[in-house]
Amino acid sequence: MQIINSIIHMQALAIAPERGERRISFVPTMGFLHEGHASLLREGRKRGDVLVLSIFVNPIQFGQNEDLDSYPRNMERDCQIAEACGVDIVFIPSAAEMYPHGFQTGVTVRDIALPLCGASRPGHFDGVATVVTKLFNIVRPDVAIFGRKDYQQLAVIRRMTGDLNMPVEIVGMPIVREVDGLAMSSRNAYLTPVERQGALCLSRSIKRVRELFAGGELSVAVLMEEALTVIKRESLADIDYIEFRDGTLLHEVTIADGSTLLALAVKIGQTRLIDNTVLGEES
Ligand code: PAF
Repeated sequence: MQIINSIIHMQALAIAPERGERRISFVPTMGFLHEGHASLLREGRKRGDVLVLSIFVNPIQFGQNEDLDSYPRNMERDCQIAEACGVDIVFIPSAAEMYPHGFQTGVTVRDIALPLCGASRPGHFDGVATVVTKLFNIVRPDVAIFGRKDYQQLAVIRRMTGDLNMPVEIVGMPIVREVDGLAMSSRNAYLTPVERQGALCLSRSIKRVRELFAGGELSVAVLMEEALTVIKRESLADIDYIEFRDGTLLHEVTIADGSTLLALAVKIGQTRLIDNTVLGEES
């Protein structure tokens, strides 16, 4: 496994004639890898000849009062996980090289980036779209793999690659959960043991809504009431949003169907967690 820090070096490998017909599959991450990332890497391994993992805590997708400085990092462990998943190249650029003095270009995706996390984290998806575009230009992947836990991020990236005719296939992979239901996230590392228990209210509320929907309840008002009831039972929970949206365009809906997305963002103590489900899909 090769570790590359320089943009020019990574790009030179990606565009070298020696690449030939070899397909590059790419998993962009911010590091502190867990089993969710490992599932993306294993999928990437199957889909390409060369598997590239990037680790870059992207400063421009964090708001002023967010956790950029405290975002968990463990490069040594990340490299061990990468190696075990068959990664060929770990690309770890510096912020100084990614955003040199004078950097002033950004990518904005409009409507689909506005609700949900776009509303509570203004500018977040501009930062994501910009860094993913840069990474695609550097790594030149044929296929890129993203997790569906960041459902809106995946929708934004699909829209962007379509709108801008980027020749990259985007693959979304299912949420990976701990045995008790908590969606895996690097930010789970912030939770105290008591908060870790409290965090289960997100998956519990998803489970309850899915049960009701499976039993024939289609009224979003009723489903919402139940979701709220479950979360509000948890004293540590502070709701950012709970929303039911069309799973493709992210429009608001009042009657649920199989493609309806339930998306939640809830603070447990100081830690903001997100989770989601599409009601008609396997959980
Ligand atoms: O999902 C993430 O880890 C990040 O948002 C991404 C896609 C690597 C861009 O920084």
